[in-house]
Amino acid sequence: MRRLYLSATLIFWLLVTAFWAGSLWLPPAEKNAAIAVDKSISPTELAKHKAPENCWMAIRGNVYDLSAYLPEHPSQPDILLPWCGKEATDAYNTKTKGRPHSPYADELLVKYRIGILASGKP
Ligand code: HEM
Repeated sequence: MRRLYLSATLIFWLLVTAFWAGSLWLPPAEKNAAIAVDKSISPTELAKHKAPENCWMAIRGNVYDLSAYLPEHPSQPDILLPWCGKEATDAYNTKTKGRPHSPYADELLVKYRIGILASGKP
């Protein structure tokens, strides 16, 4: 009985230590992701990504890589494609028809953020 108690206690503390060690290991990976997302992207760099399979847009001061999202977007691709490689805040805010995107669309956008738009001429 005593042996069972000792084994159970040992296993418990091993698990606690393993979870603690795991939590120490995770934060640096998150920090690196945050650093990458704060990368400053010039308008010249943005302009290079104007193809459907390589489509970046600047919206509200941030730059988004929307290549993977274009086929998922609810409208016809030709509505979005002209904005690849460009500052597209007005287009996004109005859907080019005067209606704003939903809060759900704003949430989706976060996932594709790759940096911030540096000031300067394209
Ligand atoms: C900047 C160029 C963009 C334009 C011109 C544009 C335009 C449109 C249009 C015309 C519609 C469908 C019709 C309508 O709801 O009135 C639509 C819907 C939608 N778009 Fe965009 N869009 C753009 C970018 C984006 C981006 C970057 C995202 C998200 C990553 C997005 C997410 C959505 C979603 C989720 C809908 C469904 C309706 C809603 O939730 O608002 N769009 N968009």
